[in-house]
Amino acid sequence: MSDADLYAEAMRAAENAYAPYSEYRVGAIVVAEDGSRFAGANVENAAFPSTLCAEAVAIGTAAAAGVRSIDTVAVGCLDDDACMPCGNCRQMMVEFGVKRVIVGAGPGAVRSIPFEEVLPDSFGPDSL
Ligand code: THU
Repeated sequence: MSDADLYAEAMRAAENAYAPYSEYRVGAIVVAEDGSRFAGANVENAAFPSTLCAEAVAIGTAAAAGVRSIDTVAVGCLDDDACMPCGNCRQMMVEFGVKRVIVGAGPGAVRSIPFEEVLPDSFGPDSL
């Protein structure tokens, strides 16, 4: 599947976002090392800190299905040209060895960012 196709799939996942407070609808696709894919969308809560990011939902869904190694996470946002993963989601990506992140880069364009640029010098499983 091409980067553009993964991004399009993330945008489709964003259509299921539950975001009545921010109205900022995000979707994410996790591509596991074996090629299997898992979707997530942000799920907000009236108690705002209880909100789940799209990436966290997708990574959690993959992990709960037994995935322990993730190759790529694609992130799409219906209401923005590009949505960069928040710090917490970047840290979740470290745990499962994400190698790159695909984000939007303006109309019709996508960007593949090596994970070392997304979160340099990270703290992870090998740090303990
Ligand atoms: N959000 C995500 O889903 N992923 C990110 O990486 C950044 C933020 C969501 C959380 C919240 O529902 C909305 O975007 C506004 O912060």
